[in-house]
Amino acid sequence: MHATAEIAERISTISVSSTLKVSADAERLRRDGVDVVDFGAGEPDFPTPANIKQAAIRAIEANFTKYTNAGGTQELREAICERHAKDFGTNYSVAECMATVGGKHAIFNLIQALVNPGDEVVIPVPYWVTYKDVVNYAGGVCVFVDTDETTGFEVNAAMIERHITPKTKLVIVNSPCNPSGGVLSKEEFRAIYDLTSRREIYLLTDECYCQFLYDAQPFSIAAVPGAKETVVVAGSLSKTYAMTGWRVGFALAPAPIIGAMMKLQSHSTSNPTSIAQKAAVEALRGPQDSVPEMLAEYRRRRDFVVHRLRQISGVSIVTPKGAFYAYPNIGVAYGSGALKNSMQFSTALLEQAHVAVVPGEAFGTQNHVRISYATSMTELERGLDRIHKFIDGFRG
Ligand SMILES: Cc1ncc(COP(=O)(O)O)c(C=O)c1O
Repeated sequence: MHATAEIAERISTISVSSTLKVSADAERLRRDGVDVVDFGAGEPDFPTPANIKQAAIRAIEANFTKYTNAGGTQELREAICERHAKDFGTNYSVAECMATVGGKHAIFNLIQALVNPGDEVVIPVPYWVTYKDVVNYAGGVCVFVDTDETTGFEVNAAMIERHITPKTKLVIVNSPCNPSGGVLSKEEFRAIYDLTSRREIYLLTDECYCQFLYDAQPFSIAAVPGAKETVVVAGSLSKTYAMTGWRVGFALAPAPIIGAMMKLQSHSTSNPTSIAQKAAVEALRGPQDSVPEMLAEYRRRRDFVVHRLRQISGVSIVTPKGAFYAYPNIGVAYGSGALKNSMQFSTALLEQAHVAVVPGEAFGTQNHVRISYATSMTELERGLDRIHKFIDGFRG
């Protein structure tokens, strides 16, 4: 019997996460002794703040090491609702909230709970890799809305409206956006919400980078009066508190949707790790100083990266307004004909110049790569020197 022939068909609807593949390729080179500069990983290089780590240590010492409720402890769910209310002025109750194993898991559960086979899900391009795969896994149909650099990759209500059909179940918005760093204005977000609620479509707002905005104040569309009926929020502690490895995220949604997600979660991961839940309560209720400190550092790095990319002739870059990614157009390097797309560009960049970036194809565009600047200034300097030289060598 061939094991590959036995794999269930639904697994073929999803592909390997490109960001994880880039990390694996970079790791392979590193193991061979190559000095790789890694701009692939989408995670803060800062350590988890000490007060959060201490809360986890206390949880272990107090033997808080057993199963909890599938949707997380009452304490954590209350802390999530409280934090969201303080930051954004929402009024979620515990019945409308659940903790998940990272924000990714919140999105997975939400989409599996909402999307039936054949339902259409509207996704602006460029998009975070996972949306497409989890929609496909649910048997849904992705309907992509192209955006471009001339408008800073921003989507608007009119563009979304043109893609809505009687089969549309859900629209996904990610602001700040991974990979473009684009941020929707409050007014445009409101217009998208008005459209989706009028057409009785759910609006999934992925708030993973909600605290990392360079020009505007953080806001949540869920705070609009009445929005709780059709808006579903996917949140994460990963980036906000430099907690990627702890795996804590959450969902805020109408109670019946939370109930459905909870049922699914109870048969898959059960609860997020008990110790991580205690750490998460401290993150949400404890001092918040680390967040603006990280933001200030990301701003410094963003300015540097944008400046350096603009020095490379033919490369263009939309200044990111949030998150910690730059998404330059490197199409100029295809001029000589040796490289034809960003996948080939990224592979050659890694093999020849030893810099890891994520190809734009992973996010739905051909001419871009994603550079994560959640890494030290020294690494940014080294990596951008190499990228500059590499592109100069490929110019047609
Ligand atoms: C846009 C976006 N949403 C959600 C996530 C999920 O993060 P996590 O599962 O670590 O909470 C990520 C992680 O990279 C992301 O970039």
